[in-house]
Amino acid sequence: MLYLKEINYEDIEKEYLFVRDMPIDENGLTNKWHGISYDEFKEKAMPEMIAFAKGENLPDGFVPETVLFLWNDDEIVGQFRIRHYLCESLRTGGGHIGYFIKKEFRKQGYGKEGLRLTLQIAKTIIPEDEIYLRVNKDNPASLKVMLNNGGYIKYEDESTYYVRIKK
Ligand SMILES: CC(C)(COP(=O)(O)OP(=O)(O)OC[C@H]1O[C@@H](n2cnc3c(N)ncnc32)[C@H](O)[C@@H]1OP(=O)(O)O)[C@@H](O)C(=O)NCCC(=O)NCCS
Repeated sequence: MLYLKEINYEDIEKEYLFVRDMPIDENGLTNKWHGISYDEFKEKAMPEMIAFAKGENLPDGFVPETVLFLWNDDEIVGQFRIRHYLCESLRTGGGHIGYFIKKEFRKQGYGKEGLRLTLQIAKTIIPEDEIYLRVNKDNPASLKVMLNNGGYIKYEDESTYYVRIKK
């Protein structure tokens, strides 16, 4: 069964391995904790992610962000992040939601279902009328995930589609 769970200490071992192995940057989805040690994850990464979700200790210009893991039974298959509202750089950039499915689990519908579940939560957090998303033009799988969840292309530039999903 597929379900989302917010980052939490109970699942730290599996969350740690997942985050450690996520690439630093794949198609603009970044992971500043790639390759991290278990101790640093526990002492630094986890507290930071949990604080940011509550809007605490945010660096200047950052908005609160919730980190969710997509689980298939007892295994983590993906990570979804919700930025709670837009600032100028998010409005014209990354938007509200970022996501990543682990390589070995791709092309099985997890991206689509994970975004569907994330949108249910995002709609209760985000004040704007539409959910903003951004995708590189050379990432057709992610564009499909968005379009399959009711997304439409609002505008585009040379390299990027800017997608919106009505709440
Ligand atoms: C984008 C990503 C989340 C997709 O995850 P996924 O679990 O494979 O997605 P799904 O299986 O739900 O759907 C992928 C869709 O794209 C299609 N697809 C996959 N690769 C494709 C390709 N190279 N060209 C065209 N379509 C492709 C699949 O057939 C599927 O379409 P369908 O639902 O109509 O059958 C995953 O590839 C990923 O994590 N990539 C790295 C990070 C990333 O790009 N994040 C998004 C940044 S905007």
